[in-house]
Amino acid sequence: MADLSTTFAGVKTPNPFWLASAPPTDKAYNVNRAFEAGWGGVVWKTLGEAGPPVVNVNGPRYGALLSNDRRMLGFNNIELITDRDLELNLREITEVKRLWPDRAMIVSLMVPCVEESWKAILPRVEDTGADAIELNFGCPHGMSERGMGAAVGQVPEYIEMVTRWCKQYSKLPVIVKLTPNITDVRLPARAAQRGGADAVSLINTINSIIGVDPDTLMMSPVTGGMGSHGGYCGPAVKPIALNMVAEIGRDPQTRGLPISGIGGVGNWRDALDFIALGAGTVQVCTAAMVFGFKIVQEMASGLSDYMDSKGFKSLDDFRGAALPTVKEWKNLNLNHVSKAVINQDSCISCGRCHIACEDTSHQAITKMKDGVRHFEVMEDECVGCNLCVTVCPVPNTISLRDLQPGEKDLRTGLIVSDKHADWTTHANNPMRASA
Ligand SMILES: Cc1cc2nc3c(=O)[nH]c(=O)nc-3n(C[C@H](O)[C@H](O)[C@H](O)COP(=O)(O)O)c2cc1C
Ligand code: SF4
Ligand code: SF4
Repeated sequence: MADLSTTFAGVKTPNPFWLASAPPTDKAYNVNRAFEAGWGGVVWKTLGEAGPPVVNVNGPRYGALLSNDRRMLGFNNIELITDRDLELNLREITEVKRLWPDRAMIVSLMVPCVEESWKAILPRVEDTGADAIELNFGCPHGMSERGMGAAVGQVPEYIEMVTRWCKQYSKLPVIVKLTPNITDVRLPARAAQRGGADAVSLINTINSIIGVDPDTLMMSPVTGGMGSHGGYCGPAVKPIALNMVAEIGRDPQTRGLPISGIGGVGNWRDALDFIALGAGTVQVCTAAMVFGFKIVQEMASGLSDYMDSKGFKSLDDFRGAALPTVKEWKNLNLNHVSKAVINQDSCISCGRCHIACEDTSHQAITKMKDGVRHFEVMEDECVGCNLCVTVCPVPNTISLRDLQPGEKDLRTGLIVSDKHADWTTHANNPMRASA
């Protein structure tokens, strides 16, 4: 059986599945049961300064984007950092770590952006026996209005400065959690690295409003007639998170910096996506909130079975394997040609591919043949765009076939070349590199 254990930024973990800093990791009662279920680690719900804890709204703090069959596509929250006493949290972290020495215990922190505040809390966290700290520079609501969370994560200079303080005043590895509410995620990642970060984790949640109630015409959800933008997460954000993870993984300046991938992980396939794009561990919040702690069991057995089927002995055997395939658009091979193919045996003649291609793509799918409904690709029109593949309701009924060098593309009349030719050298590009 494949070995799922790994070491991330110096922290040993029996598997790469960690619960993200959020309600699932809010207290010992939860974390103990999470470890019983099999989670390899947790990032404890973000702690703040000593003193009176923050206060959450006493109305809906969650909203969701649901599919028509009520599956959770996206999740929205306006929760703040922990609203429990700092002393209680520190005591519980100490107890839980003592009970579960083999699991990764990461403590998430958010205190004001002044050196004294960090200097005060860091030794207290170290005393708990925790394995590492995660700096929450991502919380996009409430705390950011107070100059913390995303307000720090959006300013690379602040990230660098606070990370440096943490490295100076603590021996623990420092993981910097990044906000996606920024135009270029490479800049905060580089800043974290300059400050001495041992790793970055991403993404925190995305600024969002779930919708408007059509009866009241108020935004939704509201507390006492008013709402506020919240942080978006869950399955819908995974592609955004994967891109950001890949951006950092292939940036020459941050390449090799350990990454904990977060955003929409709900099963082993999602975890595989992150790991193959370079993540060392993955963190989960929404899926645990929707389905409970035991989902980790499917994650672990699914990933392990996959690795066995591929002959991978450890996560390192495929970590980052997909990164070299992520390129700039300008580097894509314009000589490559694909054509859609419909499997007539499994087609149920619903017609969705025809409508999609006819109305918005290249009018390349028939709807009738000899007076009966019949859906077939006309290769002389098809540009291989993949739209029909994505709209067909029957899995694997439409696929794309790669034309081989020497074959004729019936659309252009050209013979497919085995040479790579991209936009950087294309004749239509006025900025092309000279040959
Ligand atoms: C209700 C809720 C509370 C959260 N609280 C925190 C927090 O205290 N600290 C933090 O760093 N991230 C917090 N997050 C963000 C998550 O840790 C995670 O980055 C985000 O939800 C994306 O992961 P997911 O798609 O698996 O939910 C919270 C998320 C939710 C939904
Ligand atoms: S791949 Fe695109 S162009 Fe070709 S048949 Fe499908 S939708 Fe039409
Ligand atoms: S969408 Fe799929 S099932 Fe429907 S007609 Fe096209 S190929 Fe057949």
